[in-house]
Amino acid sequence: MRQYGLIGLKLGHSFSANYFADKFLREGLSEECSYRLFELPAIECVEEFMQTTPNLVGFNVTIPYKQQIIPYLDSLSREAEDIGAVNCVKITPDGRKVGYNTDIDGIRVSLDKLLGDKVIDSALILGTGGASLAVGYVLSERGIPYSLVSRDKSKGDLLYSELDETVINSNHLIINASPVGMYPKVDVAPDIPYHLLSADHYLFDLVYNPTTTRFMTLGAEYGAHALSGLDMLYAQAESAWSIWNREE
Ligand SMILES: NC(=O)c1ccc[n+]([C@@H]2O[C@H](COP(=O)([O-])OP(=O)(O)OC[C@H]3O[C@@H](n4cnc5c(N)ncnc54)[C@H](OP(=O)(O)O)[C@@H]3O)[C@@H](O)[C@H]2O)c1
Repeated sequence: MRQYGLIGLKLGHSFSANYFADKFLREGLSEECSYRLFELPAIECVEEFMQTTPNLVGFNVTIPYKQQIIPYLDSLSREAEDIGAVNCVKITPDGRKVGYNTDIDGIRVSLDKLLGDKVIDSALILGTGGASLAVGYVLSERGIPYSLVSRDKSKGDLLYSELDETVINSNHLIINASPVGMYPKVDVAPDIPYHLLSADHYLFDLVYNPTTTRFMTLGAEYGAHALSGLDMLYAQAESAWSIWNREE
């Protein structure tokens, strides 16, 4: 039995466990693969988890350990190193622990789907946490300049109150990398001036639950194109799966 899993602090409603259980069933892998949730009360517990979990091949990492896991790993992919966050760990056959960031694969897939051939001059990223760093990485890769929007001027380039007509008209891609609008608080949306949006705007919400967020519906009311975080979620999971199973 090959063991996979997810580490985090509170894992009550994990998408990944269901995703991989369905995948293993669909692909006839249920006898040989298992994906379990491992709630760790502190990152210090990860060493024992890695040493004592039988047949551990790889695992995902979620809040609040995406950065804290790094000192416990032997090496990082270039992207994980650049971003400074790991959401996927592979244990190689010789026992080395290698950290990857597959969120960026999910972001790449999502932006391809949302934008197609559309050329974006510049973008706004709402929120300045780990997900925001990964989004910034992919935007830089695509040559799209961006500004970070934060509730705290010292963390970002712009405050929400500074998003006026000039800013909205010159940023046709707006990415919600904050948890605002996530279940159960589904009636709220990031505090941007939606009435200034148009059919020239593209909204990407990293939130995947609900699959249509208030951010998306408010944007759509003004003609904006919108995509949820669901594609990102599937793509990052599949990317982790291929990392765990490929020959190094
Ligand atoms: N679809 C996927 O596969 C996927 C993958 C990763 C993450 N996500 C989602 O992306 C979102 C962000 O993830 P994260 O790990 O970066 O989360 P996080 O660190 O908890 O929050 C990101 C940032 O959002 C802003 N923020 C937090 N609470 C806020 C509030 N009440 N009002 C306004 N802004 C707020 C903060 O930035 P400021 O303090 O600068 O305002 C914070 O640094 C989450 O909803 C997560 O579920 C989705």
